[in-house]
Amino acid sequence: MDGTFNENDISHVVEADKAHIWHHLSQHKPYETTDPRIIVEGKGMKVWDQKGKEHLDAVSGGVWTVNVGYGRESIANAVRDQLIKLNYFAGSAGSIPGANFAQKLIDKMPGMSRVYYCNSGSEANEKAFKMVRQIAHAKYGGKKHKILYRDRDYHGTTIGCLSAGGQDERNAQYGPFAPGFVRVPHCLEYRAFEQEGAPVENYGLWAADQIEAAILREGPDTVGSLCLEPVTAGGGVITPPDGYWERVAEICKQYDVLLHIDEVVCGVGRTGTWFGYQHYGIQPDMVTMAKGVASGYAAIACLVTNEGMFDKFKDNPDDPLNYFRDISTFGGCTAGPAAALENLRIIEDENLLENTTRMGDYMLDQLGALMDKHSVIGQVRGKGLFLGAELVSDRDSRAPVPEKQAQAVVADCMAQGVIIGVTNRSLPGKNNTLCFSPALIATKDDIDHILHAVDGALGRVFG
Ligand SMILES: Cc1ncc(COP(=O)(O)O)c(C=O)c1O
Repeated sequence: MDGTFNENDISHVVEADKAHIWHHLSQHKPYETTDPRIIVEGKGMKVWDQKGKEHLDAVSGGVWTVNVGYGRESIANAVRDQLIKLNYFAGSAGSIPGANFAQKLIDKMPGMSRVYYCNSGSEANEKAFKMVRQIAHAKYGGKKHKILYRDRDYHGTTIGCLSAGGQDERNAQYGPFAPGFVRVPHCLEYRAFEQEGAPVENYGLWAADQIEAAILREGPDTVGSLCLEPVTAGGGVITPPDGYWERVAEICKQYDVLLHIDEVVCGVGRTGTWFGYQHYGIQPDMVTMAKGVASGYAAIACLVTNEGMFDKFKDNPDDPLNYFRDISTFGGCTAGPAAALENLRIIEDENLLENTTRMGDYMLDQLGALMDKHSVIGQVRGKGLFLGAELVSDRDSRAPVPEKQAQAVVADCMAQGVIIGVTNRSLPGKNNTLCFSPALIATKDDIDHILHAVDGALGRVFG
């Protein structure tokens, strides 16, 4: 389309959508009287809808996914070529793009060594949970099976992942959940005052120590792993406080708790390093990733482990249960690693990590400048091109603005042709953080365009 939208009549598509599509995360009653948005085409940072209206996408496909931008012919060609050669074989066998991408990926992850392919972030996290459970049974008589997760984090949509879900509104009405998942407190310093006992100084260490307290309460011999997002995404773009991650890693080591880092959002460049955890000099046992791995050009997710984890699944070949007895049918699709290889090449050749850091710093700065004009912005935070602005009705009490008002800001930006995000029916009473995650190719002009829209929207919604 590329700005030259040809207004062919696609009303039949809209009708078919209205008649048959069950949209994700959507209340459909309004579609009885209005049309759903259908995204027809994309190029670079822009997408066009069924009416030919152009939008600047500040959320990489809505959910932090299209990291290298839309319309990448080289990825499409790589996928096409691979599909003609071999589209699929079950992952019990290897494939050429699978091996090649694994090698390239592991090059970016010193200390890690094995890649398990599947096809969604939820699925990758489920695999990690299953590994923890299998190790517990094989090595600890089933005892060391508990999985710690954190308030406000999200790990996926399945019942297993919701059992590790720290977002009560996301979880509501989907229980009962799986046993053996234990919640630890969030580490959002801006809301430390709501946490009993949280200190003003050294909050990061305190927040990490709450994890140790949970391990001691449950019994270290019952806790198998800790699953955390490096920077919490849908829970409000929470950058960890100083000292937090270093202490978390220490605690895991001390109590022999496997460290599982969910990089489904942060992974493959979003925060300006290949992986979010690499900002903190720590070494995980398991890393899960999905969205940005192939920028949405094909469905692919990976669970990456270190060799120590891998060894536990082959150290007793006489035992018929001594391997990971798991499969993902579509983990054998070759389109995923073929697209991921080209996606990685683009990030390297176009220096997109460096651009992400530079543009992210600029955007954070400019969001900070908007705080002078709009007292409704309580805090801005984030890393790289992964940013949030928490809206409060009063800076002293930090009372969150009502969700409807935060959504009105998003709707106003949309009317201006700029797509931004907001925490969405995730945290009761706290869906008040605007989310920004433009593609890693964003230019200064793109960032200015986004911020201009936000500035206008805040003015109109809050005065
Ligand atoms: C941090 C995190 N983990 C896991 C998931 C689940 O990924 P998927 O939707 O691919 O199952 C998401 C999705 O938003 C996420 O944000």
